[in-house]
Amino acid sequence: MAEKPKALPQAMRPSGVAGRIFAWLMRRQNKPAYDWTVKQLRPVKPKSVLELGFGTGDVLFEAARRLKAKRLVGRDPSVLMVHTAQKKLGRFRRKAMLDIALGDDRRLADGPFDAIVALHSFQFWEDPETTLVRLHALLSLKGRFVLVLRRRPARHAGWLPNPLSRRADEMEAAIAAAGRAGFVLSGQKRIGQHSHGLVFTCG
Ligand SMILES: C[S@@+](CC[C@H](N)C(=O)[O-])C[C@H]1O[C@@H](n2cnc3c(N)ncnc32)[C@H](O)[C@@H]1O
Repeated sequence: MAEKPKALPQAMRPSGVAGRIFAWLMRRQNKPAYDWTVKQLRPVKPKSVLELGFGTGDVLFEAARRLKAKRLVGRDPSVLMVHTAQKKLGRFRRKAMLDIALGDDRRLADGPFDAIVALHSFQFWEDPETTLVRLHALLSLKGRFVLVLRRRPARHAGWLPNPLSRRADEMEAAIAAAGRAGFVLSGQKRIGQHSHGLVFTCG
């Protein structure tokens, strides 16, 4: 008999009742990172925002509410997260162009974007070098790319699909890979216990 495929960890593919609980906890824990990210985007006054791995959709929600972005695009491989974010963002349907759909770092949307953000999803990108090159091509010349890395002990990283996230020096490796893709680091900050935020310009 064929073996049942192994379910992916909730952090990588939130689903079902456990996924709802996980998403609730994640949202509470990541609120400081959402706020910091939106603050980094404010100087750009982005009209268009792409988020990769948007989860509950809170950053896109705040980009619509606080920054008045007019094009909100998100890609996430979790059906549960797509439904959750679509529902949350529905109230902006008349004010902004919404494109919240299934996808991942290999299935992106057409640019250009004034802002690109990815919070705690980098660890799941299988081929980060290629994704970073693609994101660089999608960012408008004066745009910003905000990448928030999940901080964790290296001993918990062995299962992650991203080879850079499996390294003890993930942050330095991510900055170097972004540099090879053409990005220039313009700021960074440790955000609470769990996150490290990086801000890049197009270079
Ligand atoms: C830990 S959650 C973080 C969600 C949200 N950004 C936040 O900070 O609350 C990771 C998210 O990345 C998504 N994801 C998993 N693999 C991905 C990939 N290859 N590309 C983009 N997103 C991915 C998951 O479905 C999930 O919604």
